[in-house]
Amino acid sequence: MRSSLKFNIGFLSFLMVVITYITTIVLSEKKIIDGSNLLDISNFIFLLVLFLIALIYTSIIAKSIIFPIKKIEKSMRNVAAGKILETKHLKNYSNITEITDFIDAYSDMMQIIRKNNFDLNSQQSKTEIILEHMADGVVAFSVSKQVVHMNKSSMRLLNISNLDDTFDKIVTRLRMNIDFDKVMYLPNYKSIEERITVGDNVLNLVFVPFYSERLIPMGVIVVVRNVTENVKLDNIRKEFVANVSHELKTPLTSIKGYSETIISGDLTSDEIVKFSKVINQEANRMDRLVTDLLQLSRFDYKKVSWKKMMFSLDELALNICEKMKYSASQKNHTLECVITVSPPKVYADRDAIEQVIVNILSNSIKYTPNDGIIKLFVGSVNNNAYVKVVDNGIGIPSKDLQRIFERFYRVDKARSREMGGTGLGLAIVKEIIDGNNGTVEIKSEVNQGTEVVITLPTKMEVKM
Ligand SMILES: Nc1ncnc2c1ncn2[C@@H]1O[C@H](COP(=O)(O)OP(=O)(O)O)[C@@H](O)[C@H]1O
Ligand SMILES: [Mg+2]
Repeated sequence: MRSSLKFNIGFLSFLMVVITYITTIVLSEKKIIDGSNLLDISNFIFLLVLFLIALIYTSIIAKSIIFPIKKIEKSMRNVAAGKILETKHLKNYSNITEITDFIDAYSDMMQIIRKNNFDLNSQQSKTEIILEHMADGVVAFSVSKQVVHMNKSSMRLLNISNLDDTFDKIVTRLRMNIDFDKVMYLPNYKSIEERITVGDNVLNLVFVPFYSERLIPMGVIVVVRNVTENVKLDNIRKEFVANVSHELKTPLTSIKGYSETIISGDLTSDEIVKFSKVINQEANRMDRLVTDLLQLSRFDYKKVSWKKMMFSLDELALNICEKMKYSASQKNHTLECVITVSPPKVYADRDAIEQVIVNILSNSIKYTPNDGIIKLFVGSVNNNAYVKVVDNGIGIPSKDLQRIFERFYRVDKARSREMGGTGLGLAIVKEIIDGNNGTVEIKSEVNQGTEVVITLPTKMEVKM
């Protein structure tokens, strides 16, 4: 049965008053009747029983109060040590209303702490997972410059390990000149950015201080971003602009020079025709260049809509060979077209593939000295159709092979220009082949010859 602490203490006080009262009365009565101060045995036993009742009652109440308080104290210490104990059973230790209310309040509080702890833990593990799987590196340092967090990306990018456990060690290893205190006391929302090279990577490091709730600096965070690709793209862009300007400037200079000479007026009509022809040639070259550039720009902006269809690759190849016979004969080349196996029809943009084969064949014609042998094979392998163009020309050095599909990349710029090349032919080939789900490979040996193979799918792609 549950009773209140007030009632129990009241009852206990009442019991004590009764005992005192009875004792006083008994003692004074005895004094009046027989003048003795002694209690007789029956009164003594009665008082003793009353005392015992009071004693037992007190110990029960004390137990009901002290025991649960002790348990709660233990539970609090456990919470402080990071453990959380069940509190439900504490209710059984007391039948005093105030104490059970107190236990109830404590249980409610524990429940909230447990929930908050759970939320905090899941938040923490979420943050940890995000940090661990981020492509960017993150390193956090405490005020004493010790590493307090280092994710995998930062270790990989900065090439550091757990042994590099202080700001100074890491900064020294990266040969950087960054003052920790300067970062710590940066004005709000300011950061220090540094760009460094580690191995093959160009890294951007951002140093920022982090603060406590009361805006006291707590340490420094470094965010590491791999900007190698951006730098590469930036360089390609700059190189591209320089190349375009240069390629346009050369014919323009000729056109300007020859036209000024014609305008000066003291030329024979034969000279005028000769100079006009040069002007026309240079204008044609500029036209080719701008046409190629516009085509590449359409690829870049995904403005090309492929007109894909099933068509016969052998038929197309034979057709092109016929058309190219004339330009091959100009250099006295033998141009042979061989259909090894008649391949199944291919699924691609016919006109674009025609451009690919023409570009490859005209390279062979251009870069093979007179009297060369150029062969074109059509066949099929692993359900794919292929076209292989083999020549016995000047070949390409192996160091240039991997860059040969880059825009404006040429082994010998002067020779390419002399042949009327723009340096964009193979870049266009690559774009078209990629857009038509094919592959292109090039093998070559200097002074032996070059072999270019393209493959194309023979099945319609299934759109998801
Ligand atoms: N069959 C080949 N034999 C030798 N070199 C070649 C051959 N095909 C391509 N090349 C080299 O690759 C470079 C790039 O080719 P391409 O992009 O078609 O440009 P272009 O022909 O306008 O110079 C050429 O300048 C040349 O150096
Ligand atoms: Mg070319």
